[in-house]
Amino acid sequence: MQFQNTRAFAQEMDARDPLKKYKDEFIFPQVNGKPVIYFTGNSLGLQPRSARKYVDEIMEDWAEMAVEGHFYARKPWWDYHERFAAPLGRIVGAKPSEVTVMNTLTVNLHLLMVSFYRPTPKRYKILCEAKAFPSDQYMLESQVKFHGFDPADAIVEVEKREGEHHIRTEDVISRIKEAGDKLALVLIGGVNYYTGQVFDVEAITRAGHQAGALVGWDLAHAAGNVKLQLHDWKVDFAAWCSYKYMNSGPGNASGAFVHEKHHNNKDLPRFAGWWGHNKERRFLMEPGFDPVRGADGWQVSNLPVLSLAPYLASVEMFDEVGMDALIRKRDQLTAYLEFVLEQVDEDTEGEFEIITPKQPEERACQLSVFLHGQGRALFDYLMKNGVITDWREPNVIRLAPAPFYCSFEDMYEFGQILKNGINQKT
Ligand SMILES: Cc1ncc(COP(=O)(O)O)c(C=O)c1O
Repeated sequence: MQFQNTRAFAQEMDARDPLKKYKDEFIFPQVNGKPVIYFTGNSLGLQPRSARKYVDEIMEDWAEMAVEGHFYARKPWWDYHERFAAPLGRIVGAKPSEVTVMNTLTVNLHLLMVSFYRPTPKRYKILCEAKAFPSDQYMLESQVKFHGFDPADAIVEVEKREGEHHIRTEDVISRIKEAGDKLALVLIGGVNYYTGQVFDVEAITRAGHQAGALVGWDLAHAAGNVKLQLHDWKVDFAAWCSYKYMNSGPGNASGAFVHEKHHNNKDLPRFAGWWGHNKERRFLMEPGFDPVRGADGWQVSNLPVLSLAPYLASVEMFDEVGMDALIRKRDQLTAYLEFVLEQVDEDTEGEFEIITPKQPEERACQLSVFLHGQGRALFDYLMKNGVITDWREPNVIRLAPAPFYCSFEDMYEFGQILKNGINQKT
C-alpha cells in the first residue's frame, strides 16, 4: 500500500480499521486538555473501561459475602484463575492446561527455573541474549550462583555483531551448538525490550532441544503482541507480565506456560504450595503434595483476585478481537509509523535512526529510535506536547503503537509534533 503523510490519508485508514471502536474502550490520560498519543503500551498498557466493573464486582461481593465469596461470589474466587486458561491459551498458542496466572514475572521465572534448570557438573550452562532485561540478568546470575556455578563461566551471552543493531538467529543457533552438551537451558526474551527485535522462538527452541537443553522464554514484550505457538513449538516453559500489551494494570499478575510434556512428571522438583495441590483434595488439608497436572501445578498461593480482575477484563477483550486481527492492524500501524518517521527524517536531515529490524517477521509493535541530535530535550518536548513515550539510555525513545487503542491519525499527528520539536531546536 502506498502511504501518504497527510491527515486525510490517516483518517481514511482509521475509517477502514475494523478495530477502530476499541480506542474508546480505553481511558487516556490528558495533556493540555487533550487525550495523549500513547506509545508506552510496551511498558504499561492503558486502562480498559471494563476493568473497573470487574474490580467493583469483587469489592461488592467481598462486602456482601466476606469469606463466603470464595465459593459463592458471582465469579467464585477459589477458582477465579481458571477463567484465564482458555483465552490466555489462545493468546500464546497453548492448551488451557498449559497456562496459568500467578505471582509476577521474575518470580515465575525463578519458580520455573527450580524445575527446569537442573544443572549437573557437565551440563550447567545457560544461553541468553546479551543485554537482556536487567531483571533477567540478575535472575540468571542468582540461579547459577545458587547452584554453585560461576556466572562468568555458566552464562553464555549471544551478542549482536559489530556495527549491527540486532542479534542474528544464526548466531544464536551457532552459539547453542558450540555450547553443545554443556548447555542446560536456553532462556531469551521473545521480543528484546530495547530494540524491539522479535526472536525466532520456533527455530531457537528447536536448536536448544537438538543440543539436549531445555528452552524457556521471557515473553514480557511478546504476549499479546506477537503470534505465538508455544505448544506446537514445544517450548518447555515461559512466563510474561500482563501489564504491558495485556493492559492489566501496574505490577499485575504474570502468566506462565508449562508444556504438557512435563505435566505428568510428578518428580520434577518444584517449590510447592497448597494452590498447586490436587484441586479435589486441597481443602482436606492432608500432608503429601500432589501437584495438579498442568501449569496450575506450579501455583503456590491462593490468587490475588482483586488484581486478577482487570486482567480478566482485558483477556476477555483479547478473546473478542483475536490475535490475528490485532496483528494485522499492528503491522499496518507500525509500517505507517515507520513511514511517518522516514518522512520526518528526510525533512530534518538525519536527526535519528530506527534501530528496530525492518523485516516484518523480526519486529512487532515497537520501533526504537536512536536520537542523534537533541536527545533528551526532544524527548521532553514530545512529553510536554502530549506524546507519551519512554527514554532508554543512552539516547533511545521507544514507540509502541498498540493496535487496541492507537490510531493512524495518532501516527500522523505524532510526526507533526516530532518535526516541530526538531525544528524548534528545543
Ligand atoms: C523483558 C522483561 N523481563 C522482565 C521484566 C520484569 O518484570 P517484573 O517486574 O514483573 O518481574 C520486565 C519488566 O518490564 C521486562 O520487560
